[in-house]
Amino acid sequence: MSWWQDMVCYEIYPRAFADSDGDGVGDLSGVTARLDHLKDLGADAVWITPFYPSPLADGGYDIADYKGVAEDLGTASDVDELTARAHELGLKLIVDLVPNHTSDRHPWFEEALAAGPGSAERERYLFRPGRGADGELPPNDWQSAFGGPAWTRVPDGEWYCHLHAAEQPDLNWRSRKVRDAFTGVLRHWLDRGVDGFRVDVAHALFKAEGLPDAGPGQHTDPWRNHLMPYYDQDELHPLYREWRALLDTHPAPPGAVAPEDRVMVAESAVFDPARLARYIRPDEMHQAFNFAFLEADWNAAELRRVVDGSFAVPGAAVTWLLSSHDAVRPVTRYGSLRRARAAALLMLALPGSAYLYQGEELGLPQAEIPVDRIRDPLWERSGHTERGRDGARVPLPWSGEEAPYGFTKAPPSRTWLPQPGDWAALTVDAQLRDPDSTLRLYREALRLRRAHPAPDPAAPPTWLSAPGDDVLAFRRGALVCAVNVGSTPVPLTSLALPGHPVLGSAPLDDAVLPADTALWLIDPLSSEGPADDPRH
Ligand code: NOJ
Repeated sequence: MSWWQDMVCYEIYPRAFADSDGDGVGDLSGVTARLDHLKDLGADAVWITPFYPSPLADGGYDIADYKGVAEDLGTASDVDELTARAHELGLKLIVDLVPNHTSDRHPWFEEALAAGPGSAERERYLFRPGRGADGELPPNDWQSAFGGPAWTRVPDGEWYCHLHAAEQPDLNWRSRKVRDAFTGVLRHWLDRGVDGFRVDVAHALFKAEGLPDAGPGQHTDPWRNHLMPYYDQDELHPLYREWRALLDTHPAPPGAVAPEDRVMVAESAVFDPARLARYIRPDEMHQAFNFAFLEADWNAAELRRVVDGSFAVPGAAVTWLLSSHDAVRPVTRYGSLRRARAAALLMLALPGSAYLYQGEELGLPQAEIPVDRIRDPLWERSGHTERGRDGARVPLPWSGEEAPYGFTKAPPSRTWLPQPGDWAALTVDAQLRDPDSTLRLYREALRLRRAHPAPDPAAPPTWLSAPGDDVLAFRRGALVCAVNVGSTPVPLTSLALPGHPVLGSAPLDDAVLPADTALWLIDPLSSEGPADDPRH
């Protein structure tokens, strides 16, 4: 078994994590100084979102130099220090690889614009003539995932494709030059000691030959994503095999994991388990984010269907996540902190690995961002109908009674995004003092999870019978989890759960499993859990 199969990986969005130099923007030294927080939480790894030079048209996912470090975040030696500190603490380091698109300020794109139609420089991107008598219409009907057409016209009349913001031109992955350059990027970060990569929009790099129309209903149902001509193309897989071979063999510097222990995780918004499984074949990616779980409603049948579907591919490594810098925070999405805490215990009891996003362990709600501070390109591209993802990217509250809550020495008016005024009780310090806090719940859950590992993280949990439609009950080895997603308390006698209670997401009494509550028990009699528990 590999370490990442049941890891807990903590995602850091660096501009909102901790600021060390007082400019109001979180930075790499701030991350290094606070890595203890992750260690104390019980994380195994840290994934840090892009810290490369970027005009910030999309929060750093518009990269102008793949081997550099953004000035506001630090320097190359700050990356080295962060890496060394992570390794010293026993944390693996995963960094973002963003291969689908560059920034429009990347030298390649600037060269492509300057060189004009038909040039070799344009071959790195997807430039095409338009449709209509004067080429005034986009080359096809593709829509950007951020709203509006996926094409922008340049002054010489050609159009270029961008599946996200116009400032993020899509690369042409059939170009040898692009392919070779990214091999160099992977080598660069491996040489600096990273232990793995999270691959951004890993389902989008190749577009169907001839760029055919996609038809109606784009970006409306993620379960149809794999049917789009700009997603999930077969050519992706030889590329991922190439990268996997590189990861498996490229020598590791001291401190980093051995090549065979590296991890590459696909951010592929492909929901159909059979299609997603193709990304994680033994010689491709190690993992793929399981967005179906994040998207599932607070409903027992749906959650169970998603869990079962996630294990549909025998031997595949399963991932779980409830939040990320792109998702509405679970407290807000599920409608209450109470549900978010229950969901956390559900997730952390499942076999497989879990990704946490900074602030999830504090139970932060989605913040309201005043219109004049919105950074997310979704706001503009949606014609001001979607406020976007900034509400999940607000600086973390560390300590103190008022903003900026120990995040920075800068005044609150200068923080990366504004923090709400009522987060004093949500700071790390305040939650450490409160035995019932969400932070303490996560810490205890991670401790228990580690103490009682799944016998096989790739094998599904064993479902236990439960009355009614609202309770999910299962075991992974000695750890038993029951979640009541309904609004009515369920008598514990009707559940007859094996083992003794060790943790609850809400205060428990002896008689019932309350509404929106998860309970963990340890059953020392079983470290495996028979396929069908004879007690039920
Ligand atoms: C997924 C990233 O997580 C998101 O933040 C970004 O906007 C898109 N990919 C485009 O890079």
